[in-house]
Amino acid sequence: MTHRILVFYGSYRSDRTGIRLAQFVVEGLRGRGEDVELIDAKAVGLPMLDRMYKEYPKGAAPAVLEKLAGQIRDADGFVFITGEYNWGVQPGLKNLTDHFLEEWFWRPAAIASYSAGRFAGARAATAWHGTLSEMGMVVISSSIAAGTISQTLSADGKPIGEGGKALERAFPRFADDLMWWIEAAKLQRARKAPPY
Ligand SMILES: Cc1cc2nc3c(=O)[nH]c(=O)nc-3n(C[C@H](O)[C@H](O)[C@H](O)COP(=O)(O)O)c2cc1C
Repeated sequence: MTHRILVFYGSYRSDRTGIRLAQFVVEGLRGRGEDVELIDAKAVGLPMLDRMYKEYPKGAAPAVLEKLAGQIRDADGFVFITGEYNWGVQPGLKNLTDHFLEEWFWRPAAIASYSAGRFAGARAATAWHGTLSEMGMVVISSSIAAGTISQTLSADGKPIGEGGKALERAFPRFADDLMWWIEAAKLQRARKAPPY
């Protein structure tokens, strides 16, 4: 069965590198037959948070928020691609996610982190774990992490060198874990309506 998965990425930098990991994850999941869409926060281009989607009267939210709300509601699961700025999360992606709350509920989320250095964005991944839990997602325990990203993935997201091999080895367990929870959550939502 095909699952609908949204992959979020949120660097606004001109010379951004994390798009490589986003492409790798999108292609990896598509290769397993999943229905995957990349949501690039820079391309979406939301302004800094003013009103959350739910704070608009019904039907009055800007079209971009209405579209994203529908995409989030219709998804079976999420992957968050995160880089690390000064041990924290990237503001563009955080800004996009903060526009929504209930739309995220009752689905699993996975975290894939990266950085220019060897720590692979681990501190940002830790921060996202709590944030995604607060937003009603079940964060899976498997994660993938790409250190020295420019030496791990080529400009078009293909694994290179030893780092690329390690990423390829880690990917199947990451995807299996996400799919298991996606199926579990989907079955439970069909069996019993979420309590709130
Ligand atoms: C403002 C800023 C802060 C950064 N802070 C960290 C950091 O705390 N830890 C780290 O490993 N890399 C840090 N880096 C380096 C990033 O890992 C690297 O620039 C990476 O390419 C950023 O992702 P992006 O290219 O997708 O924007 C920082 C980069 C920027 C621009």
